[in-house]
Amino acid sequence: MYMTSGATAIWVAIATVFVTAVMTRVVRARTKHDSVSTRAPPPVVKCGSVIGLFYTMFSKGFRAMIQDQYEKLGSVFTISFFGPKVTFLIGPEVSGHFYQGLDSEINHGRILEFTVPMFGKAVGYGVDDTTRMEQYRFQFEALRPSKLKSNVALMLQEVEDYFAKWGPQGMVDLKQELSQILMLIAGRCLLGKEVREMIFGEVVTLFDELFDNSTRLTSVLFPYAPTLATYRRNRAQTKLSELFTEIVRSRKCSKRVEEDVLQSLVDSQYNNGCPTTEEEVTGMVMSLIFAGKHTSTGASTWTGACLLSHARWYEAAMEEQEQIISKYGDQVDYNALQEMDILHRCIKEALRMHPSALVFLRRVQKNFVVRTKDGIEYEIPRGHTIASPVLYNNYIPYIYKDPDVFDPDRFRPGREEDKVGGKFSYTSFGGGRHACPGEAFAYMQRKAIYSCLIRNFELELVSPFPETSWQKLIPEAKGKVMVSYKRRRMPRT
Ligand code: HEM
Repeated sequence: MYMTSGATAIWVAIATVFVTAVMTRVVRARTKHDSVSTRAPPPVVKCGSVIGLFYTMFSKGFRAMIQDQYEKLGSVFTISFFGPKVTFLIGPEVSGHFYQGLDSEINHGRILEFTVPMFGKAVGYGVDDTTRMEQYRFQFEALRPSKLKSNVALMLQEVEDYFAKWGPQGMVDLKQELSQILMLIAGRCLLGKEVREMIFGEVVTLFDELFDNSTRLTSVLFPYAPTLATYRRNRAQTKLSELFTEIVRSRKCSKRVEEDVLQSLVDSQYNNGCPTTEEEVTGMVMSLIFAGKHTSTGASTWTGACLLSHARWYEAAMEEQEQIISKYGDQVDYNALQEMDILHRCIKEALRMHPSALVFLRRVQKNFVVRTKDGIEYEIPRGHTIASPVLYNNYIPYIYKDPDVFDPDRFRPGREEDKVGGKFSYTSFGGGRHACPGEAFAYMQRKAIYSCLIRNFELELVSPFPETSWQKLIPEAKGKVMVSYKRRRMPRT
């Protein structure tokens, strides 16, 4: 399925690349260049062709635009956006350095600078590379599957309680419902008991205000401009910081130990033995919520839409739940979630077809060489922005058979198209150095939700299969996704 409109997201990406590239160029104007290239640079989309490229993008969609250039120029090509150069790397063969390169050689550049006033100067892009990599390690540790085990019971409880409030039958906007339940799960498992039980409503409102006022095009490009959005973002950030600082301080003082992600961050230690500060914990936990909120809602909505519009897979997932019940009874736990193989593959396939971004972007800080699958080598110069178009890569036909078909079996043992295709064939969660630390958590919460829904309700997608809306940085299902439900009791096989 090709997208036919990606205007806003594409313009946000282009504008971001343009501004950051110009700014970086000014800073670098007097710095030395790397040693003389020995290999050819990638082929460039000619100036006149850029107009045609935009025409294809807006009339036929992003995938069609990349496909055109891929056919003409191969898997590595540069588009010059009236000055700044963006080099596209298509396919896993040329993506290794993009995902695995050192931050000193390839990084997010200034693209994520807008996150500094969101999460504070003590974390992420407010600190030096070494500190930031240590903080990523803390987040990875906190979200490791083995650590999450203790969170699954809490997650399942939130899910059961939420859907217990649905009536015997009715109709809901799935997107809206999922957004609420996912925030409740995040509240309990990431932010902790204090937030979930005492100030949940206030925190949710503040997060909404923080995110809405930070991700507008103007706020991304000019994060410190004296606008109303900046004022509201700062107000929400200050209030959230105060609330979390108090919680972290109270945990530290009382020596109380909880089994949530917040606690792991509180207990983390830098290599030099220093513990994390209140400000750092607050910034890290806020960045986790930001990174996980819309991505999880989007992915969960697409899972529902795909599952409910493919009867064969909906029935297969139902049969799997019957088997789970006959083995575990109604006490679904971590082990039961791990055994939901069909559901897992449906979730993974939905995210292959509907990833949370068009492209991932980085800045080249040091020239590097890529080798295409046909053996051609190109040198990508410092200063280029490089783009890994996940939306295109997830549909490459020599990796994914019939890529436009929803086929969760492509991931089953014996086929495993993503593994056969090589490392970085499936990058819906990124990969390498900046791989998503929330992947295991995200799978668990989607399995917990759909396991509960399939076991307790007959579901039907009432509205048409949603189109993709590109109005925000993270693409999502357009409009309401209406689902009818009828409560039922699932038989034990
Ligand atoms: C289905 C849901 C999710 C999807 C599709 C997703 C996707 C991604 C992707 C593609 C990246 C890498 C972006 C890049 O390379 O530029 C990423 C990074 C990240 N994700 Fe997720 N994510 C999801 C859920 C979560 C959750 C639930 C959390 C936290 C609890 C989380 C935390 C993060 C963080 C902190 C990063 C930054 C890692 C870094 O830059 O080193 N994500 N995510």
